[in-house]
Amino acid sequence: MTHSKINFTLPKNIHGCPFLLLAPMEGVGDRCFRKAIASIGGFDEAVTDFLRVPRNAHVKSLAREYYAEEISPIPIAAQLMGSEPDLMAAMAQEIESRGAPRIDLNCGCPSNTVTGRGAGSSLLREPSLLHQVAKAMVSSVSIPVTIKMRSGYEDTSLFKENLLAAQESGVQYITLHPRTKADGYGPPARWDLIAEVKSILTIPVVGNGDILNVEDAIRMLQTTQCDALMIGRGSVINPFIFHQIKAHFAKESYQPKWEKLLSYFATYLSEMSDKIPVKVQINKMKQLMSFLFKGNAKLLENRMTILTSSHADLPAFMNFAIPILQEGWNLGTCTNPQWTGIHLLE
Ligand SMILES: Cc1cc2nc3c(=O)[nH]c(=O)nc-3n(C[C@H](O)[C@H](O)[C@H](O)COP(=O)(O)O)c2cc1C
Repeated sequence: MTHSKINFTLPKNIHGCPFLLLAPMEGVGDRCFRKAIASIGGFDEAVTDFLRVPRNAHVKSLAREYYAEEISPIPIAAQLMGSEPDLMAAMAQEIESRGAPRIDLNCGCPSNTVTGRGAGSSLLREPSLLHQVAKAMVSSVSIPVTIKMRSGYEDTSLFKENLLAAQESGVQYITLHPRTKADGYGPPARWDLIAEVKSILTIPVVGNGDILNVEDAIRMLQTTQCDALMIGRGSVINPFIFHQIKAHFAKESYQPKWEKLLSYFATYLSEMSDKIPVKVQINKMKQLMSFLFKGNAKLLENRMTILTSSHADLPAFMNFAIPILQEGWNLGTCTNPQWTGIHLLE
């Protein structure tokens, strides 16, 4: 599915299933994860974790390091974070020339090292600057530009102004993660704000936040009328979630297969650079697995056994961890609704 810049609507899949996006997740959703989850598939587009565009950035070399088209049938949009309109426009152009199908402006990152420089969620304090940056990006490229935003900085007092600033800049759609910067990942995502966007804007809105299973996805669609869904943590907990949502619309059942999960791990392993120290490779694998463990009440009992294990090499660690995972996996459930909000990050 490709995006058209004129009269933009987010495409639907067959059987009326909405467009499904894999969320950007710095530190978790890196290239290894994107490749691994693409081996399972089910989503329509992914977004890279953000690229910081600091003042005085060397656009060409930064873009070269950051964005390489990944051999995957699933398109991968790029996400930029910065607050200098000209620089962001130049970077957007450079990223377009490297083959990105879409460029997203990050208006959500809560990190203080970022917000200190007026980027990420800090843009939500200044709707006029948000507008300027987005407009500069839109004018500089021929591919779609979009915005991913939180509902505010300290509070939601500028929510409507930010939405209108975004729409007037010419972006094709916005994705709302309905928590403020001050909320972090604490309180439940406010889906009522996604519904509010639909009453304020004419451009499409992608709903995001706390979708952990098919029921959540359907409930978000029904209660907010959003045009598409983006899923982050729910996909690391259950990499089959996109297929399960699609199967729901097709009125079919989708049974996650253990062999598919093994190939997910195998892809993740093969994508990890040999240049990374073995200890870091093992820790990355533990992080990936620990999300899966959180999604399954039975596996949860064995989570610490995996996390505290000490193996000298990756094959030894995998030989130890995989049987434990398989034992719990065979018991069935993939998701555990009690895990919401901040718990997903611990
Ligand atoms: C570890 C982690 C890293 C994240 N990195 C980014 C990022 O680089 N860019 C961004 O726009 N959002 C980022 N987010 C926010 C997610 O994209 C998403 O909006 C949020 O997690 C809520 O969706 P979820 O409940 O489906 O995970 C990150 C979230 C997590 C948990």
